[in-house]
Amino acid sequence: MAGIVLQTEGGSGGIVIDDDWPGYSLELFSYPAHYAGDLECVVVPHGVIMDRTERLARNIMDDLGDHDIVVLCVLKGGYQFCADLVDKIKALSCSSDRTIPMRVHFIRLKSYLNVLIVEGIIGTGKTLKALLKHVEAFKPKMIKVAGLLVKRVPHNTARLPHYVGFEIPDRFVVGYALDYNEYFRDLNHICVISESGKLKYKM
Ligand code: HPA
Ligand code: MG
Repeated sequence: MAGIVLQTEGGSGGIVIDDDWPGYSLELFSYPAHYAGDLECVVVPHGVIMDRTERLARNIMDDLGDHDIVVLCVLKGGYQFCADLVDKIKALSCSSDRTIPMRVHFIRLKSYLNVLIVEGIIGTGKTLKALLKHVEAFKPKMIKVAGLLVKRVPHNTARLPHYVGFEIPDRFVVGYALDYNEYFRDLNHICVISESGKLKYKM
């Protein structure tokens, strides 16, 4: 990889797992029974991944604590790490006076078989309509829609999702991954945005 210099935090390339590390016996950990026989050993236990992720979050906070950052989650492989990393950064933000306003983006879509479209909020239903059209182009066997929130907006012609969490008034809400110009996705509660909040994060 001549010419490419990987920048590592604190001069460390991370936890080094040697070629001759045999890993942990599967007998020492629990894992889904349907993978019995499909695995060789445990190389990095989940707890270690989490502990390491926590430290990486700390490093990221130290490096970027005063910046807005865009987290670009590469689907599908990056989703769990991304989710956990963002969680750790949020936890650190809550327990210190430095915070990182985070925007999270996702890339990549592929072919589908049975699709459960999971939407945070269904307002006018326009987004869902467009998404359904896109997904239908892949001719999936099944498409179902789950919406955590369905807004009571006037003249809503959208089909109701198959699964609905809450029906809510027609107010702009953020949090629990709902955004305003990509902000507030790093907020756990679902909240109504304030006018000054709208101003602050206006595009
Ligand atoms: N919040 C975030 N995104 C939305 C909303 C909302 O209230 N309505 C439609 N998209
Ligand atoms: Mg949005």
